Amino acid sequence: MDAHKLVTPTTSSEWESFHRIRREVLFEARGQFGVYDSQHTDDRAPNNHPKLLVQNGEHLGVVRIDIEGRVAALRRVAIRADVQRRGHGRALLNLAQRFAQDAGCTQLVSSVASEAVPFYQSFGFGVAQERALGSSGRDSVFMTKRLGGGSAGRYTPGVAAET
Ligand SMILES: CC(C)(COP(=O)(O)OP(=O)(O)OC[C@H]1O[C@@H](n2cnc3c(N)ncnc32)[C@H](O)[C@@H]1OP(=O)(O)O)[C@@H](O)C(=O)NCCC(=O)NCCS
Repeated sequence: MDAHKLVTPTTSSEWESFHRIRREVLFEARGQFGVYDSQHTDDRAPNNHPKLLVQNGEHLGVVRIDIEGRVAALRRVAIRADVQRRGHGRALLNLAQRFAQDAGCTQLVSSVASEAVPFYQSFGFGVAQERALGSSGRDSVFMTKRLGGGSAGRYTPGVAAET
């Protein structure tokens, strides 16, 4: 079993997987059809980094890491429905955290769907501030994790991210 990798989509197959996973998991599975915009300008902003989680050539999940100063926001985190609850989400957060730390960030933040709160908590995130509605119009919870402290998933330079 190869290690997980977080790659920037470049090929048409990678971009197709990136948008399909987002559309199916974050929109259609929540009853929102014909809403997802694969041409959104936020996905091309210079400090926003779309990433695809890959293992053994399989496209498993997605995240966009938006960096502003020392804060990295994890946006639109999703694992393909048929491979959830097998540790891929945790691997994705580990690699996203490592990417953020390599970029000099000291904090991760995310607006989290209420059903995903335990997943983020299991990775060392805490609830920072309740928000009535997230950007997707669904109930969401604003969560943060300070980096470099010793909480779960901490990145140690020179050691591959735990997958
Ligand atoms: C949330 C999501 C990204 C988690 O990815 P995953 O690959 O399924 O999660 P993992 O297998 O890595 O889970 C790691 C740990 O997180 C916790 N966890 C994950 N999903 C959970 C859930 N639905 N309820 C409670 N705990 C959960 C558990 O502690 C789990 O460990 P365990 O399986 O040994 O109990 C994925 O399930 C998903 O894409 N869900 C739908 C979209 C979504 O909610 N995205 C987040 C938007 S903010």
